[in-house]
Amino acid sequence: MDYAENILGTIGNTPMVKMNKLVEDLPCLVLAKYETFNPGNSVKDRMALQMIEDAEADGRLKPGGTIIEGTSGNTGMGLALAAIVKGYKCIFVISDKQSKEKMDILRAVGAEVVVCPTDVEPDDPRSYYSVSKRLGEETPNSWYVNQYDNPSNAKAHYQSTGPEIWKQTDGKVTHFVVGVGTGGTISGVGKYLKEQNPDIKVWGVDTYGSVFKKYHETGEFDENEIYPYVTEGIGEDILPENVDFSIIDGFTKVTDKDAAVYTQLLAKEEGMFLGNSAGAAIKGVLQLKEQFQPEDVVVVLYHDHGSRYVGKMFNDEWMREMGYIE
Ligand SMILES: Cc1ncc(COP(=O)(O)O)c(C=O)c1O
Repeated sequence: MDYAENILGTIGNTPMVKMNKLVEDLPCLVLAKYETFNPGNSVKDRMALQMIEDAEADGRLKPGGTIIEGTSGNTGMGLALAAIVKGYKCIFVISDKQSKEKMDILRAVGAEVVVCPTDVEPDDPRSYYSVSKRLGEETPNSWYVNQYDNPSNAKAHYQSTGPEIWKQTDGKVTHFVVGVGTGGTISGVGKYLKEQNPDIKVWGVDTYGSVFKKYHETGEFDENEIYPYVTEGIGEDILPENVDFSIIDGFTKVTDKDAAVYTQLLAKEEGMFLGNSAGAAIKGVLQLKEQFQPEDVVVVLYHDHGSRYVGKMFNDEWMREMGYIE
């Protein structure tokens, strides 16, 4: 018999899938690391479990404890699955621009969800950074995860996602392209791949309204770069400790409109029903065309599943209201 001991045993070992129609104009092979095959339908299951196990190991998380996190949904789902199996409670703080589906999904797996306004400064007491920190301080026997600065986040990708990509491409990967939020995925995977072959190029996909690209290029944290944007999952108005700028070769920014339109195109042209940051990621790959040679093997990572976006990027009425389609 071949079975997992519980649902956590199904995390990782996701497929790699060749991109076809959408990348016809590129000279090289483009492969998608398809993370929706994780049980919580996103790459975040990997780091959620790693963060919990590391916190258990050094006593930050104690039996029967409450896990508190500010999460746009996917990390919460991963934490909630592990919490169910391991017997913890969860309180998640989420910003009001996130899709309703994400909030409903977190409640479906037993979490308490607190919704905060998006359009406030990170140090405003109403911001989701501030509220999650405060709940961490006020709730007895609780542990505040802090995926932004928690080193177990990037470590999970260094130990699992990176080695899987190396093995699945038989060491032939030449470029890794991925959306950047907390930075855990790009930093962990990028570090592992560059240790195997320092010539591998690591590109981050950023969004307009986020600080990453300018900070990487100039070293300046420019507050003028910050404004509300629609794209979910990538870009930040802070510099998370998990973003290791030294292993990133460059960033490309994708507009909200392009990210939304390409989220639809992934489904319609490739049969890949994926989240909004996947649309941004593949558009980022197309924008980087000049970087690629015929013999290159480009890996793009898709973070999450389309079901979380049926009220937005997969709703043509919403797409029209936003001015993204005619
Ligand atoms: C949908 C989605 N895409 C991309 C990201 C960015 O990944 P990372 O936080 O590892 O940089 C996240 C998480 O923040 C996400 O939820």
